[in-house]
Amino acid sequence: MMDSMNVNLLDLKAQNAVLEPELLEAFLRVLRSGHFILGPEVDQFERALAEFTGAKHALGVSSGTDAILVALMALGIGPGDEVLCPSFTFFATAGCISRVGAKPVFVDSCPVCFNLDLRDAARRITPRTKAILPVHLFGQSAEMDGILDLARQHGLHVIEDAAQAMGATYRGKQVGSLGDFGTISFFPTKNLGALGDAGAVLTNDTALFERARILRMHGMEPKYYHQVVGGNFRLDALQAAMLSVKLPHFDGYTARRRHNAALYTERLAKAPGVCVAKPQDCGCAQSAGVEQTARIVLPVAYPHNGHIWNQYTMRVIGTGQRDALRAHLSSRGVGSEIYYPLPLHEQACFAGLGYKADDFPVAHRLAGEVLSLPIYPELPADHLEQVCAVIAEFLAR
Ligand SMILES: Cc1ncc(COP(=O)(O)O)c(C=O)c1O
Repeated sequence: MMDSMNVNLLDLKAQNAVLEPELLEAFLRVLRSGHFILGPEVDQFERALAEFTGAKHALGVSSGTDAILVALMALGIGPGDEVLCPSFTFFATAGCISRVGAKPVFVDSCPVCFNLDLRDAARRITPRTKAILPVHLFGQSAEMDGILDLARQHGLHVIEDAAQAMGATYRGKQVGSLGDFGTISFFPTKNLGALGDAGAVLTNDTALFERARILRMHGMEPKYYHQVVGGNFRLDALQAAMLSVKLPHFDGYTARRRHNAALYTERLAKAPGVCVAKPQDCGCAQSAGVEQTARIVLPVAYPHNGHIWNQYTMRVIGTGQRDALRAHLSSRGVGSEIYYPLPLHEQACFAGLGYKADDFPVAHRLAGEVLSLPIYPELPADHLEQVCAVIAEFLAR
């Protein structure tokens, strides 16, 4: 049995501790300004975010969830409309589609990059389809050229759910402003994490930006005159001030996440039964060749993508094996997480949509195989080595 060393999945305190003097200064600035919602702190952060992401406009909102909601509302999507989105994603993606009264039409995923399967998306388009909502899951861009082509052919709007992927690139371009809208989350565990809930909407379209801006404040323009029904989707000045302190450090965080991902792949790929996912398998429903020999399939960054590794998510092959590995890691004090254990088409709240578990075979299978390891930027080197050693120990059993 190995020496025990607790390895946490996350350590949010480590990142903020080194910035404490600057964060406190920003806090005091806001405290003493008496301006707590929107205002100059939010304006300044929005400008910095637009510059960082290359988007023409950035709008600070209350969360990544509300960012999706605002984008859908600004595009006028509602009852009778269908929106394509992956089944294998965080709930908010589809939850927001339902909340505007539209129907989430689920799409299967690629077993290699975990993103939307384009061929499956094409099959599910109907005359009611109004938009496609790809997710750049775990920090890697979805196949945007194909998605934008499909959208053009069928006159669909494109909303990129970039909640997990701010700063990721697709063929050299930043994600989030390739479609009509991109949506970002600053949930504390994201690559740029606030000290609470926060999010942003990106767009290159000035008219859409204006619509989103008005929707953020109850559809009000001018004051107390409501052109449309919006909501309270405002960003707090405090969160904007905290994010402004952290944004200049973002590239450093990304570099450390990339370093951690590369180390995991280098160390783990040496163990028997471990292989790296092969990009050429992307889009194939089964990628049977890999599964027949491997016990663990490591994630891959496609050469044309700048992956920002919000998660390092492996597939553990074989019934019950993922849960056995997770239990083994836990018994040795190593944290891990399952993103996500049940695909959205199988969630109780969507039972009324009439999907069956095997309608999306890859999403269904991924939910039973995925396991994410600690990868946060400040992860100590010996913790990463410990994670690899505990996995090797599991494989040698
Ligand atoms: C893919 C995806 N979409 C949307 C969201 C929602 O973001 P938030 O938690 O900021 O509302 C998240 C956050 O977990 C996410 O991972």
